[in-house]
Amino acid sequence: MKLDGVSSRTIWLDSDGWSVGIIDQTVLPHTLVRLTLKTVEDAAHAIKSMQVRGAPLIGVTAAYGVALAMRADASDAGLDRAVRFLGEQRPTAVNLRWALEDLRATLAPLAVDARAAAAYDRAGKLAEDDVETCRQIGVNGLRLIADIAGKKGGRPVNVLTHCNAGWLACVDWGTATSPIYQAHDAGINVHVWVDETRPRNQGAALTAFELLQHGVPHSLIADNAGGHFMQRGDVDLVIVGTDRVTANGDVANKIGTYLKALAAKDTGVPFYVALPYSTIDWRTDRGADIPIEERSEDEVLRVQGKLANGDVGSVLIAADGTPARNPAFDMTPARLVTGFITERGICPASREGLKSLYPEKTSAA
Ligand code: MRU
Repeated sequence: MKLDGVSSRTIWLDSDGWSVGIIDQTVLPHTLVRLTLKTVEDAAHAIKSMQVRGAPLIGVTAAYGVALAMRADASDAGLDRAVRFLGEQRPTAVNLRWALEDLRATLAPLAVDARAAAAYDRAGKLAEDDVETCRQIGVNGLRLIADIAGKKGGRPVNVLTHCNAGWLACVDWGTATSPIYQAHDAGINVHVWVDETRPRNQGAALTAFELLQHGVPHSLIADNAGGHFMQRGDVDLVIVGTDRVTANGDVANKIGTYLKALAAKDTGVPFYVALPYSTIDWRTDRGADIPIEERSEDEVLRVQGKLANGDVGSVLIAADGTPARNPAFDMTPARLVTGFITERGICPASREGLKSLYPEKTSAA
């Protein structure tokens, strides 16, 4: 995708061939800052502080984090330490565990002096794989948008999305946004309702920014407005991303996704979840067992934005001393989800649906 007219990905290997470049997503859309990760600590900090965020990007960053760790200590103990340390940074997106297990399985059988190079190769492969997987999610999801467009006689197809499951959450394309970008590029009249997504406002700061950069028509709405627009027939389709889908089809995603799914069910609006295979947790049977990250109260008590002096900062929106809670994700039961859009096709949100697309996953794996 493009940033200020220049093709960009969210993560790359720098020209020195070993340090890792990222975009600092904590200051977007007001400032474009590129950072360089040089150590496993840098990679862990980027994940924890949400300089990088979004399930697929967290996974790829962790893979590069292992590569950085292997430069310093590629022993068995060093590999164990890096995998454990990176895995502790955020609990909900299963792509983190998936990427770390992949790296461990790739590196453990190798001689110690071969591990660093192999880790970079593997991280690069996971990044490329994510790009192609997300592109293919878009190809499959485009059919849904095209079908609706065919019935609307040129009027816009209104898609609602929550949080940021766009290219900034992945390496490129995004999951929920990939069908939208591909529909727009194919000349389909598509308009996106972008939930602001409190408390960190990834919708306002990242999704709206992405869509603006790509020229996709969109409107930013308060998180509480989606149900209203659904009742009025102004939403044709909801597409969201996910941090983890369990074997029975339950979905963990950004806090507030569940309420959107309830409203969609009540109003008969199709509610789709877009995901790559790396987001399916075959080992966890149901959504109630997904660990939900609880973040700082400050994210609820304060709102970040561009201040009058031009700096990016935050303001307090409650009385000093107000207690708050900040679960970062919620769980949407499979019964509220119309279907999954994956790189292999679209399936019902159920155990059977997932197995129809991934028949090789016959048992917990
Ligand atoms: O806390 P974040 O910003 O990492 O949460 C991101 C989301 O909830 C996304 O919807 C999810 O990771 C899917 S990204 C393709």
